This record gives sequence, structure tokens and C-alpha cells, in this order.
Amino acid sequence: MNVLFVLTLLALFWPAQGSWDTCETCGLRPSDYQNYSSAHAAGGSDGHPGAWPWIVSVQQIREAGVVHICGGTLIHPQWVLTAAHCFVNTHNVLMWRVVAGIMHLAHEGPEVQVRYMKRILGHKGYSNITQANDIALIELDEPFQCSPYVQLACVPDFSLRVQELKTCYVSGWGATMAGSPGMPPVLLESQVHLLNTHACNSSGWYRGAIHPHNLCAGYPQGGIDTCQGDSGGPLVCQDPHANHSWLVGVTSWGRGCARARRPGVYTSTQYFREWIVAQMGMDLAGAATSTESAKTHFLTISNPGEGPQPEPTQRAVSSTCPFHLDKLKGVFAQLQKVLKFLRGGKD
Ligand code: ARG
Repeated sequence: MNVLFVLTLLALFWPAQGSWDTCETCGLRPSDYQNYSSAHAAGGSDGHPGAWPWIVSVQQIREAGVVHICGGTLIHPQWVLTAAHCFVNTHNVLMWRVVAGIMHLAHEGPEVQVRYMKRILGHKGYSNITQANDIALIELDEPFQCSPYVQLACVPDFSLRVQELKTCYVSGWGATMAGSPGMPPVLLESQVHLLNTHACNSSGWYRGAIHPHNLCAGYPQGGIDTCQGDSGGPLVCQDPHANHSWLVGVTSWGRGCARARRPGVYTSTQYFREWIVAQMGMDLAGAATSTESAKTHFLTISNPGEGPQPEPTQRAVSSTCPFHLDKLKGVFAQLQKVLKFLRGGKD
């Protein structure tokens, strides 16, 4: 029995403690496991290196230099989830770059990685009037290398009860005050609450401007919120039963910043999971397949003139569990067999 106990423990903890450079897990913060840096405080404070290892800075390359435009989230080594409205001015992939593993935008340390864009896939239902379907995917020219500072976020499937999640955070390089001219060059984070969508859509709040695919997060009284420059970045919530987080939202818009009854509005990643999987042409759990197969239905901003494409081959969406539930299930099945054997074949 001791052996079984040890095996079970191994099965449970091995994947979480596995190598950080394989991109095999998602939603885990290496800094929670090892002393990569000091502890951090929640609520409008500085992050610490590796605190939000899935966040990237989406930057425009201009003559005068590079400019941070939006946040984004790594959901696969070669794919970034962000907001469609980030690209309303420039769809040209050559004008952009994506930076991961960065804290201070002005200090590119050795852990910082830069990639360029191959394609920008904006949701074709995006409206710059209503901000409906404010979601986009970026395919990178080359995959990022996972490390203690660069990790993937987990996109929930429909089994996760998002509205019940209690511990949620937003992060980004956006403005600290509405209308403030500059953005702090350092990654900031705030704890926020998921707010009831009906309340958020009611009179006195957003009066019907909230879509079914939006989440509202912040505080009824205001004070803490995302702001300009945070768009496209992650709203993540801690799983109540495990030590990983879920990417539940993409920062989209708000009226002003941090005002009472005007919380941040986010695009639900759970709502758009099928869209994401279809665009990528591969299962989010990881197995790489052709990314060329999934262009139909959706606008390819990088190639606006492109005609209709054949129906994408839909691949099975398996569990998104960051700990490779399937593997674990296999281990438990084996354990059960051994147990059954030890008990003399009876269930
Ligand atoms: N649209 C903004 C951007 O482009 C994000 C605004 C978020 N606003 C808010 N009040 N939460 O960066």
C-alpha cells in the first residue's frame, strides 16, 4: 500500500513540478513553486518577474521605436490571444512584435523573448461600435520557448463554472488613470471580482451594452480597474480546487477607468473556446497539427483580400486540464487494477 501511496503522490505532483521549459502545462506560475523572486502584493501593485508568465506585450514597430499597444496572453507557444480592437489602425503583420517574459518594458533582460507575427486573426463579428466579439488570435512566426518566465495560460471549456470563481486578477502595462498620457513601463496587477452580468447590464450601470459573451470585473464602487493599454491582456482566476489559474477573459473596454458602476468589460474566453480551437486548427491541450486548415468563417486581418477557404477540419477538443487529466486517469486506472489484484480480483 505504501508503494501505491507514493505512486499516487508521484502521479499527482510530477506534472506540476515537471520541467518549465516544455510548455506541457498551463496556468501554473513557476514563481509559486520556487524562489524566482520575492512575494507580491495584490491590488494595483507591481508584479514580479514570472508572476504572470503568460502575459505578453503586443507592440507596434514605428520609426521612432517600438510602442506598447495592447496586452495579450500566450495560450500555445505560437499563439497569442488578444483583443480585436488592438488592430483597428494597422493590420499589417510587419508593423508588430510580441514580447514575452518582460516586466519593465524598457529593460529587456536575458529572460525576455521577442517574436514577430505571421497572421492576425480577428473575429469577423467584431464591431468597433458595439465592441461585440472583441477577440483576436495572433500566430507568431516562431514559437516562444517556455521558461520560468514564459508559460501558457489555460482556456476553460464549458465544464468550468466561471461565475463561481472568487480569486481573479488583471494585469498589464496600461495607464494607471483614465486620460493619463503615459503608461507605466512596469507590469501592474490588481485583484478584481467577477460581477454579475445582469447587474452590470442594468440601468445605472452599462444599460444593455454588455453582450452575452462579456464578463464584467472590478468593484461596484470602482477604484480598481484595467485602463487604456491593458486591452487584450488577461483576466485570470484561481481554480478553487487546484493550484492553477484559468484565463477567463480578455480585457476589452470600460467607460473611463475605475469609475463606480462602470467596471472593466472582458471578452469571455470560455464563450469563444470553439472559435479559438477552430482558428488554431489544433486542440488547445497541445498536440500540434496544421495551422493552415482553420481559416474559414473568420476574417484573416493580415490577408484582407483572401477568398473563402475550405471548411476547417475540426479536431476533437479534449480536456484542457493543465495536469494532463488523461494521463492521470490512465495512472489511476492502473492503480485501480493493481488494487483490485491485491484484493483478490473483487471490486
Ligand atoms: N480599451 C482599453 C484599451 O484599449 C481597455 C480599457 C479597459 N477599461 C476599463 N475601464 N477597464 O486598452
